[in-house]
Formats: sequence, structure tokens, C-alpha cells
Amino acid sequence: MIDQLVVQKIIDTANIVEVVQDIVPLKRAGSNYKGNCPFHNEKTPSFVVSPAKGIFKCFGCGESGTAISFIMKHEQFSFVDTIKYLGQKYNITVEEKEESNEQKEQRKERDSLIIVSNYAQKYFSETLQNDPKGRAIGRAYFIERGYSDEIISKFQLGYCPEKYASFTNSALKKGYKLEFLEKTGLTIVSNDRKFDRFNGRVMFPIHSLLGKTIGFGGRTLKADKKTAKYLNSPESEIYHKSKILYGIYYAKSDIVKKDKCYLVEGYTDVISMSAAGVENVVASSGTSLTEAQISLIRRFTPNLTFIFDGDKAGIKAALRGIDLVLKQDMNVRVVPLPEDEDPDSFSKKLSKTDLENYIAENEVDFISFKSKLLLKETENDPINRARVITDIVNSIAIIPSAIKRSVFIRETSKILEIEEESIYEQINNILQKKSTKFEYKKKSFNEGKTKTPKIPAFVDKITSKPEEKSIIYYLLNFGSEILEELEQEDGSFVKQTVADYIITEIQNDDLEFQNLIYEQLFKLYKDSILESPEIDIVNFINHPDPEISEISAELLGISHVPSKIWGRSGSKIKMPEMTFKDDIPKVMVTFKFKIIIIAIANNNNRMKSMSLQVEDFEAIENIMKQNKILTQIKVELAKLSGARVVW
Ligand code: CTP
Ligand code: MN
Repeated sequence: MIDQLVVQKIIDTANIVEVVQDIVPLKRAGSNYKGNCPFHNEKTPSFVVSPAKGIFKCFGCGESGTAISFIMKHEQFSFVDTIKYLGQKYNITVEEKEESNEQKEQRKERDSLIIVSNYAQKYFSETLQNDPKGRAIGRAYFIERGYSDEIISKFQLGYCPEKYASFTNSALKKGYKLEFLEKTGLTIVSNDRKFDRFNGRVMFPIHSLLGKTIGFGGRTLKADKKTAKYLNSPESEIYHKSKILYGIYYAKSDIVKKDKCYLVEGYTDVISMSAAGVENVVASSGTSLTEAQISLIRRFTPNLTFIFDGDKAGIKAALRGIDLVLKQDMNVRVVPLPEDEDPDSFSKKLSKTDLENYIAENEVDFISFKSKLLLKETENDPINRARVITDIVNSIAIIPSAIKRSVFIRETSKILEIEEESIYEQINNILQKKSTKFEYKKKSFNEGKTKTPKIPAFVDKITSKPEEKSIIYYLLNFGSEILEELEQEDGSFVKQTVADYIITEIQNDDLEFQNLIYEQLFKLYKDSILESPEIDIVNFINHPDPEISEISAELLGISHVPSKIWGRSGSKIKMPEMTFKDDIPKVMVTFKFKIIIIAIANNNNRMKSMSLQVEDFEAIENIMKQNKILTQIKVELAKLSGARVVW
């Protein structure tokens, strides 16, 4: 039990921004902070932290809470462990009375597994440091590999004695339950006999993002080919190998600082590079990189660089999984090492500066690397060449950003000596085939009769609330209806849906809904339409965020538009099913018209407050220029609405 006063002190001291920022990089956004939500996979931040209210809220997945619940949820800590964690962070001493065995039993399974793993880590380290055999075998091995005592203790390396069950027996004697020893995989029970899974191995603890031991890798010291070189903890409630990266706890702050993450193959590579002074490095031990692991890195940086062995196997391994990374819109680079070197061996040979220089000089973007590599293999055989081109083009097509794609198309066209146009053509084919995915930048959509003039970029953070609501109402209720058929250059027609129109109009002008729920609904709709053109409205009503589900239900349930449509008397209420084709462009025009009016008014107010002195002239001139542009747009919008400008 922890003293209630201490708990209160910690709750009062813990600053939500500081607590969250240890895990999620945050950027200031007005009086709040924004970042990528750690509880679901996202690329545009919808995770908001309010220091004033002391809470976080994700508008994407609905997760919300306080500093305490953030840590509990993220680390799967108990309340008590969270208090201890925060106590450590803020240098507040948290004393806990010795727990009885009964109390221990009552703890949740996860806590128990973490406690057992923590004990095991201590036991293995202790054995390595203090037990004569541990020193002679375990420590000697690491020292021989060139690891200093400092590195050994930083990475909490250890040794599991060779006797069958010395760890298990010691743990049982201390009162740890066999059930949890088995569930963490530290102990294997067979025919009522117990064994240490890792006996005779040097131990690499695997840490959670916050530094808790959740699993282990153990390396055998035998040269015997029959024994597996590395054994890993099995999957458990606390250890999911596809979701964690080895070294992330030690690397995360350096990854943020350098805005880059290096990915290597295994434990020894991470440790040696870190020992050499390159600390922003992680490994996906034993598995090829998963989407969850990429998302984990993406929370800290969009820049991922693979460092791998110079041999064929190393290159193959690096090529695998890279498509997944491209898909998440990361900037992927590679650093091939000289033949016969891996990051472990190589970083031991160089000083920190030389290592950093080597990396900087040999780092190439992935697409160029792959093009050159595959081209070498074709040996001018035209069939092979065609296959290589297809392969590269497929990789480029995965990259979500059109701007980045065009950079790589130019680069690849040079390397493979083919026309840019022909690459574009192939990529467009792939993109079109892949799904009916929508490129909202399609030229034709800006030329329909429903198109409205663009609001200039200097108009920022201005909105009109009733139209915001109407626009989302139309998006949800009529999104997949056809608004207009647009003639193409070749004479064919493309059907523009209501969703196409609304999304194009809002996106082209960089407008944002100031009502966060509407903004969220808009993004959700946009994201789901990119996934599949068939939008299931039920997903909005059943959304885990109660606010989103409530507002969607309200908007989907109402039978006519509550907002006044500009230019209309409002006396007749028509069914929106009949009139949406007219109404939607009008709402859009009204929305923009009001934004322009407010922008002009804001400018006029700014001018009034100015002193009309020389130093203000430039600003005033600027405002007048802006107003001229705004007035032109106002007139255009008024024409579209069919109304006279009376202001
Ligand atoms: N690895 C693994 N399982 C294996 C072999 C390797 O998980 N069966 C991972 C480990 O994380 C290791 C990395 O790949 O750190 C590098 O492999 P390797 O060089 O074979 O391991 P080392 O321990 O460095 O062995 P050696 O001393 O022979 O270089
Ligand atoms: Mn090695």
C-alpha cells in the first residue's frame, strides 16, 4: 500500500504534457499539444493533449484520460506501478509496505508476468556480475566480444547458469509462482520436471518502451550446430514480438533528437552500434519488420534507415519488408556495409566519427539502391530487365505521396534509362487497378460547374459553424450520390460524387473544420473512402468515440437540413433527397462566402487598431492587397449563388 498523501502529491505534480511527451512526440497547437496517437495507427495527428485540463484525447480512436491513465493504458501498468513510475520521474519517494503473498496473488496476470520478468533480469545480471561461473563464462564472453562493463550494465545483460533449473528454483524459493514462470516462458515444465528455458545462455533482456523487461533473447555459448544460437521468450500477455523492437527504450530519445532511426538485424548489432556512440538504433530480432513495428518507429521519426550486412543474404533481408515501410509514407534509406561485415563487427572497427561518416557517405535512398542493385543482376537480358522495371515501379507505386513518387520516378528514369512518361504510365495503371482509389487532385474535378473559387492561403482559421454542420450532414447522408458528370479531355464522362466534390473543395483550399468532431468526421470519411469506395455509415454510428457516434447518429437521423441556405427565403422546406444537387454547391458557396466576409472584417479591424505611422505602412499595404483579392472572390462567390452583393 502506498501512502495516500504521496499518491496525491504525484497526481498533483505529474504534468500531462511531460508525461505523454516521454512516449509520444508532441507539437504545440494553440493552447494544446498534438501528436500521433499511440493507441491506434495514424499518420495525421488526432491525439490532443490539453495541459490546462490535464487530459489527453484522441479524436481518431476515442481513447482519453489523465496522465495516470495514459501510463496505465500505454504500459499496461497497474495503478501502483504507474504511481511508482511517476514517482521516479518526479523524484518523489514512493515507499510501499511489503506485500503479502495473498496480495501478490490478487494482482493482475500482466503485473505478475512483469514482476517475474523483472526478477529474472535481476537474477541473470546478478549471476553475470557476481557468481564465479557467471563471471568466468557469461561476463567473459561479453568482454571478449568487446562490451565494456558500462554497456553490459546499460543493456542489463546477464547469464543463466547451466544447471537445469537454478533460476527456476531460486524464483520459486522467493515466492514467485510457477504459473507465471511458465507463462513468461522462463521455465519449461515437462512431465512434472522443471527446466530453465535459457540454461547456459547469455541473456539479452527485451524492454518495453518505458524500460520494463518483457522478454528475453538468450544466446548459446556452445559452438554445437544442433543447439539454436538464439532462443527467444515465447509470446505472452506482456511480450508480443511483432509489436516491439529491441533497443527502442534506449534509442527513443536519440531517434527524436536525430530525427532518424537505424534498423539493424539483432541484439549484438544494436549494442555494438550504441557502444560506438550511434544510439538511435533498434532491431526487429528474429522477425521481418511488421506494420506494428513500423508504426512504433513512426511515432518518433518518419526517417528509417536500414543498415545491413554487405552479403547477399543481408541485402535480401533488407529488401524484404521495405514495401511495408514505403506504404506507411516513411523516408526509407539504406546503408550497405562492406562485404563480410555486419553492424556489430563493423562498428567495433571504427571510431564514432568514422562510423558516422561512413553512414552519412553511404546512405542512399531505397528506390535508387534497389534500381541499381537489380539492374546489375539483369546482365542486359531484356526479359530480366522488364521484370526489374516492373518490380521497381511496383515499389514506387506503394509510396502514398505523389510528390515523393515523382522524385523517385525522375531518379529511376535516369538509372534504368527509360522515359519518365512511361514510368508514370505504368504507375498510374497500377494505382488505378489497385482499387478505385481516389486521387482528389484530379484536374477534372476542379472544372465542373459546381466548382467554387479558391480561398487564398492567407485566410487561416476562419469558419462558419452552421455550414460546417451542413457540409458534414451532406457528406454523411449523400456522400456516394452522383453530384455532376464531368466531361474529360477525351470526351468521356467521369461521375463526381458528393464526397468527391466536398473533399476536393475543402482540401484544395486547405480549409479545416474548427469543430473538432466535424473535422474528425471529415477525416474519417476521407480515410475510409480511400480504403474502399463503399462507405459503411454504420461505422460512424458505432464509432468507439461516443461524441463521434452521437453526432453521426444525429446527422444521419435528421430528415432535413437545419441550416439556412443562403439566397433562399427558407419558407419552403423541400426534402433534401430532391434538392441536394442544388443545395450542396450552395452550402459550399455560402460557407466560403462567410469565411471571406469574416476575413475582410478581421482585416478591417486590424487596420483600425494600427497607428497609421510609418512602421505600419507596410502592414497596411499588405492588408489592402489582401482585401482586394478577398473582395474579388466575394464577388465571384456572390455570382455563383445568384445573389447581389449588397455589402
Ligand atoms: N539472430 C537471431 N537468431 C539467430 C541468429 C541471429 O535472432 N539464430 C539475431 C541476433 O539478434 C543477433 C543477430 O541476429 O544479434 C546477428 O546474428 P549473428 O551474427 O549470427 O549473431 P552473433 O551473436 O553476433 O554471432 P557471431 O558471434 O557468430 O557473429
Ligand atoms: Mn555477429
